[in-house]
Amino acid sequence: MARKPTRQYVCRACGAVHAKWVGQCEGCGEWNTLEEMPLEPLAASSVSSRAGGGRRVRLEELQGQVQPPPRVHSGIAELDRVLGGGFVPASVVLVGGDPGIGKSTLLLQAASRLAGQGERVLYISGEEAVDQIRLRAQRLGVGQAKLELAASINVADIIATLDSEPDVRAVVIDSIQTMWLETVESAPGTVSQVRACAFELIRAAKRRGFCLVLVGHVTKEGALAGPRVLEHMVDAVMYFEGDRGHQFRILRAAKNRYGATDEIGVFAMTDRGLEEVSNPSALFLAERRGNIAGSAVFAGLEGTRPVLLEVQALLSPKGGDGAPRRAVVGWDSGRLAMLLAVLETRCGLKLSGMDVYLNVAGGLKVAEPAADLAVAAALVSAATGVPTNSGEVYFGEVGLSGEIRQVAQADARLKEAAKLGFTQAVLPRRIASGNARPRQPEGLGLRELGHISDLISPEAEAD
Ligand code: TYD
Ligand code: MG
Repeated sequence: MARKPTRQYVCRACGAVHAKWVGQCEGCGEWNTLEEMPLEPLAASSVSSRAGGGRRVRLEELQGQVQPPPRVHSGIAELDRVLGGGFVPASVVLVGGDPGIGKSTLLLQAASRLAGQGERVLYISGEEAVDQIRLRAQRLGVGQAKLELAASINVADIIATLDSEPDVRAVVIDSIQTMWLETVESAPGTVSQVRACAFELIRAAKRRGFCLVLVGHVTKEGALAGPRVLEHMVDAVMYFEGDRGHQFRILRAAKNRYGATDEIGVFAMTDRGLEEVSNPSALFLAERRGNIAGSAVFAGLEGTRPVLLEVQALLSPKGGDGAPRRAVVGWDSGRLAMLLAVLETRCGLKLSGMDVYLNVAGGLKVAEPAADLAVAAALVSAATGVPTNSGEVYFGEVGLSGEIRQVAQADARLKEAAKLGFTQAVLPRRIASGNARPRQPEGLGLRELGHISDLISPEAEAD
């Protein structure tokens, strides 16, 4: 009889499980991230109805009265928005992000605000000493908050402490990769430790009813187990993103059992910590210079929130032999290649001999196809040297035949553009029998385009 395997291999970066060791993870393509783990014995196979021991679970009807979960407001509106209205008692939130992006700063600020509302909040750090946290809190201007601190990496100690403090409302663990359980025979940061520590802390949160926030570093090198290996164990997963060279930080929900996952929170990192940005468009457009060729404003949507962004394109004659350069920041490079091909084929624009640089200013990553038209406008403007009208915003998807296609939520985009003082929106032409006409805000003209070539030889009239 073949021997049953007793080991398995788990990827530190994405949590994929492999039966055999391989150099490259088949799940995420990272190299040397597999970690050997003992396979848990499958005791379940011995359970059968005849063997007894199990009790019948109660089966319920789908219909019934449901109360929305109670919320504990963090006092930071941008964070509450991403959480779906605030922390839910006995729930677990994982906050992931690159080292140095501002996770500890955000959570120290949120924890202090919570404590300021009279809640008991524990901030447990495995990375910094208590004095370091105090210093940081002073710098953030929250040094007076009634937050309770501990520096510990021992999960057994932490749980014993929590069990003796029953009225604690929220606990921050910074970070889960530093935590350690004696009973697990591997170093902190390994998949086994990270999972076992998270499991124990989550059980304590469910038992005691406090909100648990776990901080997890995303590590490119794969030396530590990343937040991905915990995603399935927690109620909500949030990633804190941004370019360290930029001020902006975006908090994005990747999973949320108690709310929508498409909301973002926008923050600016200042010398006094993270500040909420309630009007991101104004911030993203703050440094825009009008009347420069190669720039166009995109009326985008992040979650339910409209966000205006500047798209910048630069063309320069291809240097040397070989393929021209296509460098993209903040947008999909495959989508850029498609747009370039459409512009070349459908509009006769000669771009194949040019190096193309595209940048979404401000460090935001745009995933919406609705950005196509703004990118096309920026490229056309860069190629022709004619600036786009600085009072104009663009949105619309571009198809392979060059047609401009409808996108969702035109009303919200138009309203935001009008609010920020734009005077004209360039958008997809309505199909005669199709969509209802979007509501036209006062002071905003609409220029409807049917085909991408209209960008070059405007045939559609403003109305
Ligand atoms: P931190 O919250 O320690 O990041 P993480 O916990 O995600 O590793 O953020 C550290 C960075 O933030 C550091 O480079 C300095 C910067 N920072 C500020 O710019 N202003 C501040 O008030 C604070 C506290 C940090
Ligand atoms: Mg930190």
